[in-house]
Amino acid sequence: MDFKTWSSERIGHFEWFAQSTLPQVGTDPKKLIGAMRYAVLNGGKRIRALLTYAAGEACGAEAALLDAGALALECIHGYSLVHDDMPAMDNDTLRRGKPTVHVAYGEATAMLAGDALQTQAFEVLSHAKGEASTLVRMLQTLSHASGVRGMAGGQALDLDMVGQAPSELALMRMQNMKTGALITASVLMGAQAGHWTQLSETAQAGFARYGHALGLLFQVVDDILDCTQATETLGKTAGKDAKDDKPTWVSFKGLEGAQAYAQTLYEEALSALDSIEADSAVAPGAADRLRDIAHLVKGRTH
Ligand code: IPE
Ligand code: IPE
Ligand code: MG
Ligand code: MG
Ligand code: MG
Repeated sequence: MDFKTWSSERIGHFEWFAQSTLPQVGTDPKKLIGAMRYAVLNGGKRIRALLTYAAGEACGAEAALLDAGALALECIHGYSLVHDDMPAMDNDTLRRGKPTVHVAYGEATAMLAGDALQTQAFEVLSHAKGEASTLVRMLQTLSHASGVRGMAGGQALDLDMVGQAPSELALMRMQNMKTGALITASVLMGAQAGHWTQLSETAQAGFARYGHALGLLFQVVDDILDCTQATETLGKTAGKDAKDDKPTWVSFKGLEGAQAYAQTLYEEALSALDSIEADSAVAPGAADRLRDIAHLVKGRTH
């Protein structure tokens, strides 16, 4: 199956699973449930979900466990975007081509939607069918990547850096945490849902190294797109980083420097896949999906 067919099948299935698993409309508290569904079911690219499916299928994971992992990740991601867009943080009014959650539902509901999506993620994953040790490992990966050492911590560093000129190391650390951690977790949770413990240490490290490079690549490209794409293409307000004096790879290295860095990270992600493919416990050809996702992330336009 080619990558395009595979990814649209997985995304189609994921959308159905997310629609039917999230709290249903028509029950109380209606406004909060409406905001939660609006935040998750409004047309994201589903890169994190795809990573979980691809890494999981490479390691022979059960489809139902990958569904739960993918939804948990997209709930955390959706919550991070709701809060990221709020006036106290990036103060954005447009997301995925639509008004942001706080614009559509008000700030109090946006705050609660983020809170409730965060716990929804852990509820979905902890109720999934699977070995207890597998579920605990996946829950540990997700909670670490979401919290103070991951996304939330990175967001705090991001806010502290507004108007500053951080070192390259500090910029990298902030972006690895705010964006890279959840992307890395998406890869690892997929592999952990399968026969993770049968993988060689080299292959386990290969999944982590791929996730790490891809996560940073994802944010470098996000920084580039902010200043090269139109608002209509992005589905979020273009030129916002420069306007808010945010330190980004473009402000740090210039547009060409950021593009060159994206290429380096892309190559790093691909080279990490070699050590995964060398492991006989990984399905032959399975790393091709991860290769295609890296290509997609590097070439995306929104
Ligand atoms: C946007 O993430 C926020 C960042 C981490 C850069 P995505 O670009 O994955 O957002 P959606 O889910 O596709 O809208
Ligand atoms: C967001 O980074 C990372 C998150 C953890 C949400 P940005 O602030 O650059 O994301 P966008 O550009 O608003 O999507
Ligand atoms: Mg932000
Ligand atoms: Mg933002
Ligand atoms: Mg951005």
